[in-house]
Amino acid sequence: MIVTIDGPAGSGKSTAARGLSQRLGFEFLDTGAMYRCVAWSVLDQNVNPADEQAVGAVSQQIKISFSDAKVLVDGQNVSQLIRTPEVTEIASLVAQYPAVRTELVRLQRQTAEGIDIVSEGRDQGTVVFPEAFCKFFLIADPQERARRRHEELQAQGKGMPIADILQQIDERDQRDEQRTVAPLVPADDAIEFNTSTLTIEEVLDQLEQIVRSRMSSKPH
Ligand code: DC
Repeated sequence: MIVTIDGPAGSGKSTAARGLSQRLGFEFLDTGAMYRCVAWSVLDQNVNPADEQAVGAVSQQIKISFSDAKVLVDGQNVSQLIRTPEVTEIASLVAQYPAVRTELVRLQRQTAEGIDIVSEGRDQGTVVFPEAFCKFFLIADPQERARRRHEELQAQGKGMPIADILQQIDERDQRDEQRTVAPLVPADDAIEFNTSTLTIEEVLDQLEQIVRSRMSSKPH
């Protein structure tokens, strides 16, 4: 059974997806991490991020895998390395390339084959798993998303003015929403939540309750 959680950065979807998968006893798939792995490899191999064909080739050559809570590229633990601002920026760029998306969508479907999974990203309910059992789309006000990102960065010992974070969020949103392939939009049958004023526990309680009530009413 597949549950999808899509939404922009800072909407709380990663935390929600991870927490929901634990509550349901499902696997968890962080598809943003896959785009980050391609971006990290592009930088690591000194490939020009603007060279669409070369970046597409990188996405086909590397082996992305997940082990426990770790993200691996060709066996190397890149869990921390893919969270830098530089990788974040390049991930958003390479995510626009059809060749990269085709490869990662294939990998995402392969990962979900025959298992119960909560899959999180931007296009999980629209493109990757249009037949998913339950689809959620999380949003949050830009100010709140910037505040969360600021807190995250501070925890890593990195400071950045909120105004700069807001601007970056805005730019990334525009790129994610306006790209021609798999833009960030809710699926027609997705349930939308604004998490701005909710705690993570409140979000999880609501998501879990919806999935469980569907499980008991809908054959799957
Ligand atoms: O969720 P994240 O910030 O880790 O995602 C990194 C980048 O990958 C972000 O710019 C959006 C993109 N992405 C995507 O295009 N499709 C997905 N399914 C997941 C992420």
